[in-house]
Amino acid sequence: MENKQKLRQKMIAYREQLSREWIERASARICHQLIQLPAFRHAKTILFYMAIKNEVDVSQAMRVAWQEGKRVVLPRVNGSNMDCLEVNPQDELQKGNWGIPEPKNGKVIDPDQSDWVIVPGVAFDRKGYRLGYGGGYYDRFFSKYPHLQRVGVLEHGQLVPTVYPESHDQPLQQLVTSQQVFQIQKSD
Ligand SMILES: Nc1ncnc2c1ncn2[C@@H]1O[C@H](COP(=O)(O)OP(=O)(O)OP(=O)(O)O)[C@@H](O)[C@H]1O
Ligand SMILES: [Mg+2]
Repeated sequence: MENKQKLRQKMIAYREQLSREWIERASARICHQLIQLPAFRHAKTILFYMAIKNEVDVSQAMRVAWQEGKRVVLPRVNGSNMDCLEVNPQDELQKGNWGIPEPKNGKVIDPDQSDWVIVPGVAFDRKGYRLGYGGGYYDRFFSKYPHLQRVGVLEHGQLVPTVYPESHDQPLQQLVTSQQVFQIQKSD
C-alpha cells in the first residue's frame, strides 16, 4: 500500500514535468495507433475520457470515432460510481468534482453496451495493471462490468515494472504507449 502510494506520487510528479508539446506529440501518436486497432475499427460504441493534468489526450481519436459514425460515450461521476453518457460533437461539457469535463445532459448508456473502454492512468505495468488517482472509480466500474474490453493509454515513461496491484485492481487487456502496442497475456 505504501509502495503504491509512493509510486503514485512519483509518477504524478513525472507526468507533471512533461512539457505540453511532449504530451501533444505522444497523444497524437497514441491516437494514430488507437484508430488502427481492430478493437477500434469494430467498435460501435466507445467509452472515452476527457484528459486533465498532462494525461494522454484522446480527443483526436474521439473525433475520428464521430466521423466514422460510432457512438461516443463519456463517464460522469455519480457518487462513488460512474454513469456513461452519450456525447455528440456540439455537446457542452462541464467540470465535475474532480475537475474532469463531463457531459451535462445526454442519453444514459448501459455500460455493457460499450465495445471498448479507453482508460487513462498515472502509471501502468506490463501485466496490464493501472494506477489511477486512488479513487478506485475504474476498479469499481470494471468489477461491476467485467466483460468490458479495456485499453490503457500512456506516455512511454508511465510504463513501470509493477504498480503493486491489490486484489481489487482490475487489469486492462491492451496498452497503447507513444511507442508500442501491448496485448496483455493472461498469466493467472
Ligand atoms: N470493486 C470495489 N469495490 C469496493 N471498493 C473498491 C473496489 N475497487 C476499488 N475499491 C476501493 O477504491 C480504493 C482505491 O483503489 P486504488 O488505490 O486501486 O485506486 P486507483 O485504481 O488508483 O483509482 P482510480 O481507478 O479512481 O483511478 C481501494 O482502496 C478500495 O477501497
Ligand atoms: Mg486501482
